[in-house]
Amino acid sequence: MSAPILDTFGRKHTYLRISLTDKCNLRCTYCMPQEDMQFMPSKWLMQAEEIELISEIFVEMGVDKIRLTGGEPLIRKDVGRIINNLGQLPVSLTLTTNAVFIDQFISNLKEAGVKSLNVSLDTLKEAQFKNITKRDHFDKTLSNINLLLAEGFVVKINVVVMKGVNDSEVNDFVRLTLDNPNLHVRFIEFMPFNGNKWDMSKIVSYADLLAEVSSEFEFEKLPGELQDTAHRFQVKGGAGSFGIIGTVTHPFCSGCNRIRLTADGKLKNCLFDTTEVDLLTPLRAGEDIRPLIHGHFYKKHFANGGHVGFDKHDAKTDYEQNRTMIAIGG
Ligand code: GTP
Ligand code: 5AD
Ligand code: SF4
Repeated sequence: MSAPILDTFGRKHTYLRISLTDKCNLRCTYCMPQEDMQFMPSKWLMQAEEIELISEIFVEMGVDKIRLTGGEPLIRKDVGRIINNLGQLPVSLTLTTNAVFIDQFISNLKEAGVKSLNVSLDTLKEAQFKNITKRDHFDKTLSNINLLLAEGFVVKINVVVMKGVNDSEVNDFVRLTLDNPNLHVRFIEFMPFNGNKWDMSKIVSYADLLAEVSSEFEFEKLPGELQDTAHRFQVKGGAGSFGIIGTVTHPFCSGCNRIRLTADGKLKNCLFDTTEVDLLTPLRAGEDIRPLIHGHFYKKHFANGGHVGFDKHDAKTDYEQNRTMIAIGG
Protein backbone atom coordinates (compact mmCIF):
# COMPACT_ATOMS: atom_id res chain seq x y z
CA MET A 1 0.00 0.00 0.00
CA SER A 2 1.39 3.45 -0.96
CA ALA A 3 1.14 6.48 1.31
CA PRO A 4 -2.42 7.84 1.71
CA ILE A 5 -3.48 11.04 -0.02
CA LEU A 6 -3.37 13.65 2.70
CA ASP A 7 -3.56 17.41 2.65
CA THR A 8 -1.90 19.79 5.08
CA PHE A 9 -5.07 19.83 7.23
CA GLY A 10 -4.84 16.08 7.83
CA ARG A 11 -7.79 15.20 5.60
CA LYS A 12 -7.42 11.74 4.04
CA HIS A 13 -8.78 11.43 0.51
CA THR A 14 -10.38 8.05 -0.07
CA TYR A 15 -13.27 8.82 -2.47
CA LEU A 16 -12.45 9.10 -6.17
CA ARG A 17 -14.95 10.59 -8.63
CA ILE A 18 -14.07 9.74 -12.22
CA SER A 19 -15.79 11.51 -15.08
CA LEU A 20 -16.10 9.16 -18.07
CA THR A 21 -17.23 11.74 -20.61
CA ASP A 22 -18.25 15.37 -20.89
CA LYS A 23 -21.16 14.43 -23.16
CA CYS A 24 -24.75 14.07 -22.05
CA ASN A 25 -28.09 13.16 -23.59
CA LEU A 26 -29.80 15.95 -21.60
CA ARG A 27 -29.13 19.69 -21.60
CA CYS A 28 -29.76 20.91 -18.04
CA THR A 29 -28.91 24.58 -18.09
CA TYR A 30 -27.27 24.71 -14.66
CA CYS A 31 -24.83 22.04 -15.77
CA MET A 32 -24.38 22.49 -19.53
CA PRO A 33 -25.04 26.16 -20.23
CA GLN A 34 -24.88 26.06 -24.05
CA GLU A 35 -26.83 23.80 -26.38
CA ASP A 36 -23.90 23.88 -28.83
CA MET A 37 -21.24 22.79 -26.35
CA GLN A 38 -17.78 22.04 -27.69
CA PHE A 39 -17.07 18.57 -26.39
CA MET A 40 -13.64 17.09 -25.87
CA PRO A 41 -12.28 15.25 -28.89
CA SER A 42 -12.31 11.53 -28.08
CA LYS A 43 -8.54 11.22 -28.33
CA TRP A 44 -8.28 13.46 -25.27
CA LEU A 45 -10.34 11.09 -23.18
CA MET A 46 -8.88 8.49 -20.89
CA GLN A 47 -9.21 5.08 -22.52
CA ALA A 48 -10.87 2.27 -20.55
CA GLU A 49 -7.55 0.61 -19.70
CA GLU A 50 -6.13 3.95 -18.57
CA ILE A 51 -9.12 4.51 -16.27
CA GLU A 52 -8.61 1.04 -14.86
CA LEU A 53 -4.87 1.56 -14.34
CA ILE A 54 -5.34 4.96 -12.70
CA SER A 55 -8.04 3.47 -10.45
CA GLU A 56 -5.70 0.69 -9.34
CA ILE A 57 -3.07 3.28 -8.44
CA PHE A 58 -5.60 5.27 -6.42
CA VAL A 59 -6.75 2.10 -4.64
CA GLU A 60 -3.15 1.42 -3.64
CA MET A 61 -3.12 4.93 -2.23
CA GLY A 62 -6.11 4.21 -0.01
CA VAL A 63 -9.17 4.93 -2.17
CA ASP A 64 -12.09 2.73 -1.11
CA LYS A 65 -14.97 4.36 -3.01
CA ILE A 66 -15.21 5.18 -6.72
CA ARG A 67 -18.07 7.10 -8.28
CA LEU A 68 -18.41 7.24 -12.07
CA THR A 69 -19.84 10.52 -13.32
CA GLY A 70 -20.10 12.47 -16.56
CA GLY A 71 -21.66 14.18 -18.37
CA GLU A 72 -23.76 11.07 -18.47
CA PRO A 73 -21.47 8.10 -17.76
CA LEU A 74 -23.78 5.56 -19.43
CA ILE A 75 -23.46 7.11 -22.90
CA ARG A 76 -19.87 6.03 -23.15
CA LYS A 77 -19.69 2.96 -25.42
CA ASP A 78 -17.25 1.00 -23.25
CA VAL A 79 -18.93 1.85 -19.93
CA GLY A 80 -20.06 -1.78 -19.42
CA ARG A 81 -16.48 -2.99 -19.47
CA ILE A 82 -15.34 -0.16 -17.18
CA ILE A 83 -18.07 -1.01 -14.66
CA ASN A 84 -17.13 -4.71 -14.80
CA ASN A 85 -13.44 -4.12 -14.31
CA LEU A 86 -13.71 -1.47 -11.61
CA GLY A 87 -16.17 -3.80 -9.85
CA GLN A 88 -13.26 -6.23 -9.36
CA LEU A 89 -11.37 -3.68 -7.25
CA PRO A 90 -11.80 -3.59 -3.45
CA VAL A 91 -13.94 -0.46 -3.58
CA SER A 92 -17.54 0.52 -3.21
CA LEU A 93 -18.41 1.31 -6.83
CA THR A 94 -21.26 3.62 -7.72
CA LEU A 95 -22.53 6.07 -10.36
CA THR A 96 -24.29 9.39 -10.71
CA THR A 97 -26.58 9.19 -13.75
CA ASN A 98 -29.72 10.67 -15.28
CA ALA A 99 -31.04 7.09 -15.49
CA VAL A 100 -32.31 7.33 -19.08
CA PHE A 101 -30.28 4.28 -20.15
CA ILE A 102 -30.20 2.43 -16.85
CA ASP A 103 -32.52 -0.40 -17.96
CA GLN A 104 -29.74 -1.60 -20.30
CA PHE A 105 -27.28 -1.95 -17.43
CA ILE A 106 -29.14 -3.67 -14.60
CA SER A 107 -27.31 -7.01 -14.79
CA ASN A 108 -24.00 -5.30 -15.48
CA LEU A 109 -24.41 -3.19 -12.33
CA LYS A 110 -25.43 -6.18 -10.22
CA GLU A 111 -22.51 -8.29 -11.40
CA ALA A 112 -20.11 -5.46 -10.57
CA GLY A 113 -21.51 -5.26 -7.03
CA VAL A 114 -23.07 -1.80 -7.39
CA LYS A 115 -25.63 -1.40 -4.60
CA SER A 116 -26.61 2.25 -4.77
CA LEU A 117 -26.93 4.91 -7.48
CA ASN A 118 -27.49 8.65 -7.48
CA VAL A 119 -30.00 9.82 -10.06
CA SER A 120 -30.52 13.43 -11.16
CA LEU A 121 -34.19 14.42 -11.37
CA ASP A 122 -35.23 18.00 -10.70
CA THR A 123 -38.97 17.83 -11.24
CA LEU A 124 -41.91 15.44 -11.08
CA LYS A 125 -43.76 17.28 -13.86
CA GLU A 126 -43.32 16.29 -17.47
CA ALA A 127 -43.46 19.81 -18.94
CA GLN A 128 -41.05 21.14 -16.36
CA PHE A 129 -38.68 18.24 -17.09
CA LYS A 130 -38.55 19.35 -20.70
CA ASN A 131 -38.04 22.95 -19.66
CA ILE A 132 -35.07 22.07 -17.44
CA THR A 133 -33.44 19.31 -19.51
CA LYS A 134 -34.53 20.44 -23.00
CA ARG A 135 -35.30 16.79 -23.74
CA ASP A 136 -38.33 14.48 -23.59
CA HIS A 137 -37.10 11.65 -21.37
CA PHE A 138 -39.35 12.17 -18.36
CA ASP A 139 -41.26 8.87 -18.56
CA LYS A 140 -38.12 6.87 -19.16
CA THR A 141 -36.38 8.48 -16.21
CA LEU A 142 -39.26 7.75 -13.85
CA SER A 143 -39.72 4.19 -15.06
CA ASN A 144 -36.01 3.53 -14.71
CA ILE A 145 -35.95 4.88 -11.15
CA ASN A 146 -38.80 2.50 -10.37
CA LEU A 147 -36.93 -0.32 -12.07
CA LEU A 148 -33.83 0.32 -9.94
CA LEU A 149 -35.94 0.25 -6.79
CA ALA A 150 -37.74 -2.92 -7.89
CA GLU A 151 -34.34 -4.54 -8.53
CA GLY A 152 -33.26 -3.75 -4.95
CA PHE A 153 -30.88 -0.84 -5.54
CA VAL A 154 -30.72 2.10 -3.16
CA VAL A 155 -31.56 5.26 -5.12
CA LYS A 156 -30.65 8.80 -4.11
CA ILE A 157 -32.48 11.37 -6.22
CA ASN A 158 -30.54 14.62 -6.68
CA VAL A 159 -32.77 17.69 -7.04
CA VAL A 160 -31.05 20.99 -7.85
CA VAL A 161 -33.53 23.49 -6.42
CA MET A 162 -33.88 26.77 -8.33
CA LYS A 163 -36.06 29.64 -7.22
CA GLY A 164 -39.20 30.02 -9.31
CA VAL A 165 -38.43 26.87 -11.30
CA ASN A 166 -38.95 23.78 -9.15
CA ASP A 167 -39.05 25.08 -5.57
CA SER A 168 -42.80 24.47 -5.36
CA GLU A 169 -42.14 20.73 -5.71
CA VAL A 170 -39.99 20.22 -2.62
CA ASN A 171 -42.71 18.55 -0.57
CA ASP A 172 -43.79 16.37 -3.51
CA PHE A 173 -40.27 14.96 -3.52
CA VAL A 174 -40.30 14.50 0.26
CA ARG A 175 -43.56 12.56 -0.08
CA LEU A 176 -41.78 10.02 -2.31
CA THR A 177 -39.58 9.02 0.62
CA LEU A 178 -42.43 8.14 2.97
CA ASP A 179 -42.92 4.52 1.95
CA ASN A 180 -39.69 3.26 0.46
CA PRO A 181 -36.63 2.65 2.67
CA ASN A 182 -34.38 2.54 -0.41
CA LEU A 183 -35.42 5.94 -1.74
CA HIS A 184 -33.60 9.07 -0.60
CA VAL A 185 -34.00 12.57 -1.98
CA ARG A 186 -31.28 15.23 -1.72
CA PHE A 187 -32.05 18.86 -2.40
CA ILE A 188 -28.99 20.67 -3.74
CA GLU A 189 -28.32 24.38 -3.50
CA PHE A 190 -27.69 25.69 -7.02
CA MET A 191 -23.92 26.13 -7.38
CA PRO A 192 -21.89 28.49 -9.58
CA PHE A 193 -19.85 27.26 -12.56
CA ASN A 194 -18.59 28.87 -15.71
CA GLY A 195 -21.44 30.30 -17.76
CA ASN A 196 -24.37 28.88 -15.74
CA LYS A 197 -25.84 32.29 -14.83
CA TRP A 198 -25.64 31.60 -11.12
CA ASP A 199 -26.43 34.30 -8.67
CA MET A 200 -27.27 34.21 -5.02
CA SER A 201 -30.89 35.25 -5.63
CA LYS A 202 -31.57 32.02 -7.57
CA ILE A 203 -30.66 29.83 -4.63
CA VAL A 204 -33.16 28.14 -2.40
CA SER A 205 -31.08 27.89 0.75
CA TYR A 206 -30.72 25.15 3.31
CA ALA A 207 -32.81 27.21 5.74
CA ASP A 208 -35.53 27.89 3.14
CA LEU A 209 -35.72 24.21 2.26
CA LEU A 210 -36.14 23.13 5.88
CA ALA A 211 -38.82 25.78 6.37
CA GLU A 212 -40.69 24.52 3.34
CA VAL A 213 -40.60 20.89 4.50
CA SER A 214 -41.69 21.85 8.02
CA SER A 215 -44.75 23.57 6.58
CA GLU A 216 -46.07 20.09 5.80
CA PHE A 217 -44.08 17.44 7.69
CA GLU A 218 -42.61 16.72 11.07
CA PHE A 219 -39.12 15.35 10.70
CA GLU A 220 -35.94 14.59 12.60
CA LYS A 221 -32.24 14.85 11.82
CA LEU A 222 -30.40 11.62 11.06
CA PRO A 223 -26.82 11.04 12.17
CA GLY A 224 -24.15 11.48 9.51
CA GLU A 225 -20.41 11.45 8.83
CA LEU A 226 -18.20 14.52 8.53
CA GLN A 227 -17.50 13.76 4.85
CA ASP A 228 -21.18 13.57 3.82
CA THR A 229 -22.33 16.11 1.27
CA ALA A 230 -25.88 16.02 2.62
CA HIS A 231 -27.38 16.75 6.01
CA ARG A 232 -30.04 14.05 6.24
CA PHE A 233 -33.51 14.06 7.76
CA GLN A 234 -36.43 11.67 8.02
CA VAL A 235 -40.10 12.45 8.16
CA LYS A 236 -41.59 10.97 11.35
CA GLY A 237 -42.83 7.51 10.48
CA GLY A 238 -41.24 7.75 7.01
CA ALA A 239 -39.14 4.96 5.48
CA GLY A 240 -36.57 6.76 3.29
CA SER A 241 -34.90 10.09 3.96
CA PHE A 242 -34.45 13.54 2.55
CA GLY A 243 -31.25 15.53 2.68
CA ILE A 244 -29.87 18.92 1.83
CA ILE A 245 -26.58 19.53 0.05
CA GLY A 246 -25.89 23.10 1.05
CA THR A 247 -22.62 23.88 -0.70
CA VAL A 248 -23.35 27.59 -0.73
CA THR A 249 -24.79 28.24 2.73
CA HIS A 250 -23.69 25.04 4.58
CA PRO A 251 -20.41 23.86 3.04
CA PHE A 252 -18.93 20.59 4.31
CA CYS A 253 -15.30 21.25 3.42
CA SER A 254 -13.89 20.30 6.82
CA GLY A 255 -14.61 16.62 6.20
CA CYS A 256 -13.78 16.59 2.50
CA ASN A 257 -12.38 13.24 1.30
CA ARG A 258 -12.94 13.75 -2.44
CA ILE A 259 -10.62 13.41 -5.41
CA ARG A 260 -11.82 14.32 -8.89
CA LEU A 261 -10.55 13.12 -12.22
CA THR A 262 -11.95 14.77 -15.34
CA ALA A 263 -12.65 12.73 -18.47
CA ASP A 264 -9.43 14.05 -20.03
CA GLY A 265 -7.40 12.82 -17.08
CA LYS A 266 -6.92 16.04 -15.10
CA LEU A 267 -6.79 15.82 -11.32
CA LYS A 268 -8.80 18.33 -9.30
CA ASN A 269 -8.29 18.59 -5.55
CA CYS A 270 -11.58 20.43 -5.12
CA LEU A 271 -14.76 21.01 -7.10
CA PHE A 272 -14.10 24.75 -7.02
CA ASP A 273 -10.32 24.85 -7.40
CA THR A 274 -9.34 25.80 -10.93
CA THR A 275 -5.80 24.45 -10.79
CA GLU A 276 -5.66 21.02 -12.40
CA VAL A 277 -2.85 18.51 -12.75
CA ASP A 278 -2.58 16.39 -15.87
CA LEU A 279 -2.22 12.72 -14.91
CA LEU A 280 -2.93 11.22 -18.33
CA THR A 281 0.12 12.52 -20.20
CA PRO A 282 2.63 11.28 -17.60
CA LEU A 283 0.73 7.99 -17.30
CA ARG A 284 1.01 7.53 -21.08
CA ALA A 285 4.73 8.29 -20.82
CA GLY A 286 5.10 5.51 -18.24
CA GLU A 287 5.89 7.90 -15.38
CA ASP A 288 4.91 7.41 -11.75
CA ILE A 289 1.88 9.65 -11.16
CA ARG A 290 1.86 9.21 -7.37
CA PRO A 291 4.14 12.19 -6.60
CA LEU A 292 1.90 14.41 -8.75
CA ILE A 293 -1.16 13.31 -6.79
CA HIS A 294 0.49 13.87 -3.41
CA GLY A 295 1.85 17.25 -4.54
CA HIS A 296 -1.55 18.48 -5.72
CA PHE A 297 -3.36 17.48 -2.54
CA TYR A 298 -0.60 19.03 -0.46
CA LYS A 299 -1.69 22.33 -2.05
CA LYS A 300 -5.41 21.84 -1.36
CA HIS A 301 -7.14 24.83 0.26
CA PHE A 302 -9.05 24.24 3.46
CA ALA A 303 -12.32 25.42 1.96
CA ASN A 304 -13.57 26.75 -1.33
CA GLY A 305 -17.24 26.24 -0.53
CA GLY A 306 -19.74 29.02 -0.09
CA HIS A 307 -18.72 30.50 3.19
CA VAL A 308 -15.41 31.64 1.75
CA GLY A 309 -17.49 33.55 -0.75
CA PHE A 310 -18.32 32.67 -4.33
CA ASP A 311 -18.34 36.39 -4.96
CA LYS A 312 -14.72 36.72 -3.92
CA HIS A 313 -13.31 36.12 -7.42
CA ASP A 314 -10.03 34.81 -6.11
CA ALA A 315 -7.95 33.87 -9.17
CA LYS A 316 -7.72 30.21 -8.18
CA THR A 317 -11.31 29.63 -7.25
CA ASP A 318 -13.22 32.14 -9.37
CA TYR A 319 -16.11 30.07 -10.68
CA GLU A 320 -16.05 31.85 -14.04
CA GLN A 321 -12.57 30.37 -14.51
CA ASN A 322 -13.73 26.91 -13.48
CA ARG A 323 -14.98 24.38 -15.99
CA THR A 324 -18.68 23.89 -16.52
CA MET A 325 -20.14 21.22 -14.24
CA ILE A 326 -20.52 18.85 -17.15
CA ALA A 327 -16.79 19.01 -17.85
CA ILE A 328 -15.86 18.48 -14.19
CA GLY A 329 -18.18 15.59 -13.48
CA GLY A 330 -20.13 16.96 -10.55
P1 GTP B 1 -22.63 10.27 -2.07
O1 GTP B 1 -21.45 9.44 -2.33
O2 GTP B 1 -23.90 9.55 -2.20
O3 GTP B 1 -22.52 11.10 -0.84
O4 GTP B 1 -22.71 11.24 -3.32
P2 GTP B 1 -22.40 12.74 -3.55
O5 GTP B 1 -23.47 13.54 -2.95
O6 GTP B 1 -21.02 13.02 -3.15
O7 GTP B 1 -22.39 12.78 -5.14
P3 GTP B 1 -23.35 13.23 -6.30
O8 GTP B 1 -22.62 12.93 -7.54
O9 GTP B 1 -24.70 12.65 -6.15
O10 GTP B 1 -23.45 14.79 -6.14
C1 GTP B 1 -24.50 15.43 -5.46
C2 GTP B 1 -24.18 16.91 -5.33
O11 GTP B 1 -23.13 17.07 -4.41
C3 GTP B 1 -23.73 17.54 -6.64
O12 GTP B 1 -24.29 18.82 -6.77
C4 GTP B 1 -22.26 17.60 -6.47
O13 GTP B 1 -21.65 18.57 -7.22
C5 GTP B 1 -22.16 17.88 -4.99
N1 GTP B 1 -20.86 17.47 -4.55
C6 GTP B 1 -20.29 16.27 -4.69
N2 GTP B 1 -19.04 16.29 -4.22
C7 GTP B 1 -18.84 17.55 -3.76
C8 GTP B 1 -17.74 18.21 -3.20
O14 GTP B 1 -16.68 17.67 -3.01
N3 GTP B 1 -17.91 19.50 -2.88
C9 GTP B 1 -19.08 20.16 -3.08
N4 GTP B 1 -19.13 21.40 -2.68
N5 GTP B 1 -20.12 19.59 -3.63
C10 GTP B 1 -20.00 18.31 -3.98
N1 5AD C 1 -25.43 23.18 -8.85
C1 5AD C 1 -25.76 22.13 -8.06
N2 5AD C 1 -25.76 20.85 -8.48
C2 5AD C 1 -25.45 20.62 -9.74
N3 5AD C 1 -25.40 19.49 -10.45
C3 5AD C 1 -25.01 19.79 -11.70
N4 5AD C 1 -24.82 21.12 -11.83
C4 5AD C 1 -25.10 21.66 -10.62
C5 5AD C 1 -25.10 22.99 -10.13
N5 5AD C 1 -24.79 24.02 -10.89
C6 5AD C 1 -25.74 18.17 -9.91
C7 5AD C 1 -26.50 17.31 -10.88
C8 5AD C 1 -26.04 15.92 -10.55
C9 5AD C 1 -24.86 16.10 -9.65
C10 5AD C 1 -23.65 15.35 -10.03
O1 5AD C 1 -24.56 17.47 -9.67
O2 5AD C 1 -27.86 17.44 -10.69
O3 5AD C 1 -27.03 15.18 -9.87
FE1 SF4 D 1 -14.11 19.69 -0.70
FE2 SF4 D 1 -13.68 21.81 -2.13
FE3 SF4 D 1 -16.07 20.75 -1.97
FE4 SF4 D 1 -15.00 22.05 0.06
S1 SF4 D 1 -15.58 22.90 -1.84
S2 SF4 D 1 -16.09 20.13 0.14
S3 SF4 D 1 -12.90 21.46 -0.11
S4 SF4 D 1 -14.31 19.80 -2.85
